[in-house]
Amino acid sequence: MKLLNKVVLVTGAASGIGKTIAVEFAKEGAYVAVNDVSKDGEATVEIIKKIGGKAVFCQADVRDESHVTAMMDYVIEAFGKIDILINNAGVSIRKNIIEAGEEEWTKTMDTNLKGAWLCCKYAIPLMIENGGGCIINIASTHSFRTQPNHFPYQSAKAGMIALTNGICVDFGLKGIRANNISPGFIATPLAFDYLNEFPNREEKIQKIKSAQLTERLGTPEDVAKAAIFLASDDANFIYGANLIVDGGRSIYQKTD
Ligand code: NAI
Repeated sequence: MKLLNKVVLVTGAASGIGKTIAVEFAKEGAYVAVNDVSKDGEATVEIIKKIGGKAVFCQADVRDESHVTAMMDYVIEAFGKIDILINNAGVSIRKNIIEAGEEEWTKTMDTNLKGAWLCCKYAIPLMIENGGGCIINIASTHSFRTQPNHFPYQSAKAGMIALTNGICVDFGLKGIRANNISPGFIATPLAFDYLNEFPNREEKIQKIKSAQLTERLGTPEDVAKAAIFLASDDANFIYGANLIVDGGRSIYQKTD
């Protein structure tokens, strides 16, 4: 067990990648604080309890500072400390720069980037008090290489990379280690919402597969395994990395 007795807070853990990270961390011996804005996070807690793990549900909107401070208080009350924070909560609205409205900018930036900052703002002092901690920001391959109509998602995700660097530079010497994971296409409800926008969904899936160096689609477990590594002591010399989990898609220049 790589995370025995560690306390992890996973945001957006009612669904997809966050839900799987929460369950896989519990299997590694971590106590899990499951956050989500949706009540469905309770089901993640139930799954963890069924496999003999310890988990609590913290329903909170990461965009709201008062929710985030209450959530931190709740995690401390439940588990006494926070060792690992995983900023995973995210939404994606696909427009271009001209089409996007202020409301869409605010929702996307606030959920993905402001929410991650607020969780860091209130978790880092608790981690320092406890001798240190680890932060993993779930960014995206869109943070460095994007596609049409992914604004302002790619801007929020690019901001997360800079946020990670800032955490390391400001608090690395105080025991805080932060890294990014940039998933490519991962089969989750968010990703399938995106696919549903295409008239020929199956054709789009084939195109995604053929843009990778493996024919299978990425799974939430692929991301969870990367997160377990980055959160474990095996990674304790790694600061500010961006671990790309995309089946090779972002390095592959197809020649036909
Ligand atoms: P998902 O839609 O399955 O899960 C996202 C979760 O975040 C949901 O449970 C949702 O309720 C929660 N959430 C949304 N707004 C919130 C808020 N304000 N406060 C708290 N929770 C909130 O999405 P998925 O695919 O699991 O994505 C998770 C993360 O991974 C996101 O940050 C996403 O941008 C990122 N990502 C996903 C990729 C994919 O292909 N699925 C690729 C690259 C990055």
